[in-house]
Amino acid sequence: MTTNENGSCIGKVAFVTGGASGIGRATALAFAREGASVVVADVSEPSNQETARMIEELGGQAIAVRCDVTRAEDVKAALDKTVEAFGRLDFAFNNAGIEPRKAAPTAEYEEEEWNRIIDINLRGVFLCMKHEIPLILKQGRGAIVNTSSGAGIIGIKGSPAYTAAKHGVIGLTKAAALDYAAQNIRVNAVCPGYIDTPMMGRFTGGTDEGRAKVIAEEPVGRMGKPEEIAAAVIWLCSDAAAFVVGHAMVIDGGQTVQ
Ligand code: NAI
Repeated sequence: MTTNENGSCIGKVAFVTGGASGIGRATALAFAREGASVVVADVSEPSNQETARMIEELGGQAIAVRCDVTRAEDVKAALDKTVEAFGRLDFAFNNAGIEPRKAAPTAEYEEEEWNRIIDINLRGVFLCMKHEIPLILKQGRGAIVNTSSGAGIIGIKGSPAYTAAKHGVIGLTKAAALDYAAQNIRVNAVCPGYIDTPMMGRFTGGTDEGRAKVIAEEPVGRMGKPEEIAAAVIWLCSDAAAFVVGHAMVIDGGQTVQ
């Protein structure tokens, strides 16, 4: 982590969107284990409170805030609460996201579904960074990680909105990384493969057959664990990654390796 002089992360603050579930929850817990105080921002209540409770059980400090990342006023209010509770912001993991309701080729794709996915998965990341960056600048250093996807690297047939949003997250990450590199804010992205989360459960229908189909696309022969993405986020925020800027880190068991 970006540590204090004494090598600990105590006193540092992490803001995690989509922290009520899956990858976000695992990462919120991982930040807490590193000693950071954590803000669990999610539209889903009381699951965000459950994550905060899990952190407190570990002996960490956390608050849960209800936040819809598509609403600037929610994002701003959640970050105001962050500063009110913990006095600062050092790290942000902009991870809230949704999967498509159904697959359809581009010409048949519903405009409403396009808007819904772009709004949460891309505009939400922009809104979060817009309001996080001024707070991190006050500390003089910090790190942001945005969640893209394998769909940010390759095209997904029948999924134009999700593919465009996740490619967009990588472009946005690179632009913001260049904007703030000289001011000691490093902005990077993670691109998870198939990860065993509630989202994946909805995607596979939760059946053995659905899971087997997904696993067949993974060269390592299994899905990833949310903790395997959390570990990458923690590393990207750490001093070990001090020279890593604007990178889209693929953590996918080889799924997108051609
Ligand atoms: P999940 O469905 O388990 O968790 C997503 C969380 O985001 C939920 O708690 C949900 O309430 C929250 N959320 C949704 N819309 C929101 C909004 N408007 N404002 C605030 N919070 C909102 O999903 P999972 O799997 O943990 O996914 C996390 C991220 O990882 C997403 O961006 C997803 O697209 C991405 N991803 C997931 C993969 C997977 O295989 N699970 C693969 C590649 C990317």
